[in-house]
Amino acid sequence: MRITVIGCGYVGLVTGTCFAEAGHQVVCTDNDAERIATLKAGIVPIYEPHLDGLLTANSRANRLSFTCDATAAVNSGDAIFICVGTPPKENGEADLSAIDDVARLIATEAHTSKLVVEKSTVPAQTGQQLKRVLSVYRRDPSVDFRVASNPEFLREGTAVEDFLHPDRIVLGVEDEDSEAQLREIYRPILEAKFNCPAHLKGCPSAKPATLVVTTINSAELIKHASNSFLAMKISYANMIADLCEKVGADIKEVVHAMGLDPRIGPQFLNAGLGFGGFCLPKDVQAFVRLAERSGVNFHMLKEAELVNKRRIDLFIEKIRQALWVIKDKQVGILGLAFKANTDDIRFAPSLEVIRRLLAEGAQVRAYDQEAMDRTATIFPEIQFCREPHEVAQDADALLILTEWPEFRQLDWGHISELMSRPLVIDGRNLLDPATLMEHGFEYHCFGRHLEEPQRQFVPAPILKAASNAMQQS
Ligand code: UDX
Repeated sequence: MRITVIGCGYVGLVTGTCFAEAGHQVVCTDNDAERIATLKAGIVPIYEPHLDGLLTANSRANRLSFTCDATAAVNSGDAIFICVGTPPKENGEADLSAIDDVARLIATEAHTSKLVVEKSTVPAQTGQQLKRVLSVYRRDPSVDFRVASNPEFLREGTAVEDFLHPDRIVLGVEDEDSEAQLREIYRPILEAKFNCPAHLKGCPSAKPATLVVTTINSAELIKHASNSFLAMKISYANMIADLCEKVGADIKEVVHAMGLDPRIGPQFLNAGLGFGGFCLPKDVQAFVRLAERSGVNFHMLKEAELVNKRRIDLFIEKIRQALWVIKDKQVGILGLAFKANTDDIRFAPSLEVIRRLLAEGAQVRAYDQEAMDRTATIFPEIQFCREPHEVAQDADALLILTEWPEFRQLDWGHISELMSRPLVIDGRNLLDPATLMEHGFEYHCFGRHLEEPQRQFVPAPILKAASNAMQQS
C-alpha cells in the first residue's frame, strides 16, 4: 500500500517507520525543513529505542522516504495519516490548527481520491470537522475524500513494540471501503507478517492484536478516555500512598495485592511524583474541556489533575522537611525525563521541581541518561554531570525524579561517602529503602512503610499551625 504520513514528530516517525517495516511504501513530510534534512541524513531527532535501526533499514530498502514537498507527499499515498501536533491551548483545549492546515492542504493539492486518517489525538467530533474542511476546500471535484480515525496508543520508550505488536487497533470508520483499506494496511501487523527485527522477537506483547471497528466519534473518544483513565489510576494510587503514610501502611504492598484482581490490574499504580509527558496531562485537560463543552461535569477527572499537581507541592515539602532550609543547599537530581527510556522532558515533573528549587536558592546539579541536552536549553544555570557519582559529590540531598532502572544499580555505599549528608528523596519510589538505610541514608519516598525518618514527616501546614499555636500560648 502507498501511505503518506504528514507530521514527522514522535507519532509520525514511529507510524511511518513501522508501516514501512510492515512492507508498505511510505512517504513522510513535515513543514520543518531542518527536521526533514536530519531524517534524510538518517538521523533520528528523538530518542526512541529501535527507531533509528528501523528507519535506516527501511530508508535503505527504499520503502521509507522524507520530503519537504508537501504536495508531492499528499499525492504519493492512497491513504494519508495525519500525525501533526495537537498541543494544549491556554484553556487546556486541544489546538487543532495544524489539523486544519493539513486538511486544507490535502483538499487543495490532492489529484486523486484519498483516505484521510486522523492519527493525532483529537477530541471527539474532529473527524466531522475534517470532512467538512476537505469538502469545502476541495479544488478538484472529481477527487473523493473519505475520513477515518485510527488513534495511536504508543508509549514513549516502547513505541516501536507498541506499534508492531499492539494489543488493540482501533479503526473509526463510516464506510466499508475505508474499513477494507485500513484492514489491508494493518494486515501485516495483525498477522505479524513482517520482518520482525531480532531484538523485538519475543517481546511481551507479541500476542495477536484485537481489531476494533467503531464509528469515528467513538474512536476519537476511546483515545481520550483511555489516557484519562490511566491518569486517574495514577492519581488514585497517589492518594492511597498519602493515606499509607498516615496510617503506617505500605503502598507497594497495597497496590501489589490490588493489582492481582484482574478487574484492577497491576499497571499504572506506581505512586510518586505523578504523571507528566506530552500525552497524559494534555489529554486529561482536553477531555475535561470536551466534557464541559458537551455539558457533562467530569469533576472526577479535574480532581485527578489536581491530585497530580499537588504531587510536586508534596515533594517540595518533603525536601523542605528533610533539609529545613533549601537556600544554598547542594541538591543533586537523578533523572530529568518525564519517564524512563525517553529523552522527552515535556511536562516532566522534574522541570517544576527544578524551578522551585532554583527559586528558593538551591544549587542544582543533575544527571539523566538521555534528557540533559533538552533540559539545558531551559535551565542553563544548573550544572549537568557526566555520571551520577558526580551529582552526589558534596551534595546535601539526592532527588530521584525519573524511574530509570539504572539508578537502582548504583553503588549506594560509595554514593553515601561522597555526599555531604546521605539523604535521598525518592520521587518515584524506585529504590529499596532497606538497602539505602543499610548504607546510612536518610530516605524519604511516597507511602512506603519506613522505620524512622519518613514516619516523622509532618506536613508544613501542620507544623505551621503547631508553631502558631505555640507562639500564641
Ligand atoms: C501515554 C499512554 O500510556 C499511551 O498509551 C498514549 O498513546 C500516549 O500517552 P506516554 O506519554 O509515553 O504514554 O507515558 P506513560 O507510560 O503513559 O506515562 C505517563 C506518565 O505517568 C509518566 O510521567 C510516568 O512516570 C507516570 N506514571 C506512569 C506514574 O507516575 N505511575 C505509573 O504507575 C505509571
